[in-house]
Amino acid sequence: MKIMVVGGGGREHAIIKSLKKNKDVEEIFALPGNGGIAKDATCVNIGAKDIEGIARFAKENNIDFAVVAPDDPLVLGAVDELKKLGIPCFGPEKKAAIIEGSKVFSKNLMKKYGIPTAQYEVFDNAADALKYLETAPIPTVIKADGLALGKGVIIAMTREEAYDAVHSMMEDKVFGDSGNNIVIEEFLEGPEVSVLSFTDGKTVVPMISSMDHKRACDNDEGLNTGGMGTIAPNPYYTKEIAEECMEKIFLPTIDAMNKEGRTFSGCLYFGLMLTKAGPKVIEYNCRFGDPETQVVLPLLESDLFTVMKAVSEEKLAETEVKFSEGAACCVVMASNGYPAKYETGFEITLPEKYEEHEEVYVAGAKLCDGKLLTAGGRVLGAVAKSDDLKTAIKKAYALTEKINYANAYCRKDIGKKALAVYNKEN
Ligand code: AMP
Ligand code: GLY
Repeated sequence: MKIMVVGGGGREHAIIKSLKKNKDVEEIFALPGNGGIAKDATCVNIGAKDIEGIARFAKENNIDFAVVAPDDPLVLGAVDELKKLGIPCFGPEKKAAIIEGSKVFSKNLMKKYGIPTAQYEVFDNAADALKYLETAPIPTVIKADGLALGKGVIIAMTREEAYDAVHSMMEDKVFGDSGNNIVIEEFLEGPEVSVLSFTDGKTVVPMISSMDHKRACDNDEGLNTGGMGTIAPNPYYTKEIAEECMEKIFLPTIDAMNKEGRTFSGCLYFGLMLTKAGPKVIEYNCRFGDPETQVVLPLLESDLFTVMKAVSEEKLAETEVKFSEGAACCVVMASNGYPAKYETGFEITLPEKYEEHEEVYVAGAKLCDGKLLTAGGRVLGAVAKSDDLKTAIKKAYALTEKINYANAYCRKDIGKKALAVYNKEN
């Protein structure tokens, strides 16, 4: 079985390592992959947004199954092109990926089908948005409609910041056409939970819950990043809340997409906020989260390829999806300065041998003359799992100590908030 995984970050490395566990998987190609992924897959220099290149490669190399992981190719229709060639895929078609590709679409979907989310207004011109903001409650949240490299959300703590956000998105076009329309929404408060789910459009199976740490510095200070670390399971996500989410959010979303003629198949990511008024959707992603995947997949006991194939064949209901009882922690090792200015090109030394509970998923690195060099803001994720969260965190940090490069930086408090919740309960 020849598999192709589109993407080249830590999430894709985690997916590839999980797929490799299946005996039928003979060869994995990563498009484009990265210097660290090269140990586990054949990296092919085709960018994740090069839909034509991806389709051509799949056809010429008789790919048996494709996994499209990042948002861009999904929103651009990579799965549609691959399916036209008769290649089975894990991932939604373009018409379903819009659930992440357009915030206006997803907000209107939630409103139409009564799925709990923040109150909002949509604007297609700056003048109306600015007028609305004159009397809007502050803080407020301004979101660019389209994809914006995870930077299209501004939490405005003052009216001035809100005006600035509208100017930069709608007039200065800092996110290009993604800012042609914007959503201005109610500021919500409460713990955040990420729930990734497998769905084939008929059945939805939530994976183990997780918690991201988005800010660059300890105690959730500093700039927003792509994610500095994750833990799973998320202690705020109790069994009762999980049941409520299934009933009020997960099933209604799958139903809504079916009713709109946009059946979603793949991994649907629910970004939730547990407000005093109940769980609400902050965002949908049409794909696995990064770095959530790096803690979720190590806890998956069932075989990933079997589950992905079942999703693509609409047989998820008949397939077991089991997670271990344990916990996992991913500490992202970054280049000092990220997400602002940072240097790259430093040699990375990884441990010679790994313990069974350890994994390193490489995100930003390239191979140069046989050496692995840093090549991005987020360099890798050091992941450990254990029976309990406290040990998983300790082991993940112990693993970071065994990894070296010149300007390594990581947060020192990944999982601290989650541990405090457990400690309060016990
Ligand atoms: P996103 O880029 O959509 O993942 O949003 C980034 C972050 O902004 C989320 O993880 C939340 O922490 C925050 N956020 C988004 N929408 C809201 C909201 N309505 N109220 C409060 N925080 C929000
Ligand atoms: N960790 C958030 C995301 O993947 O969008």
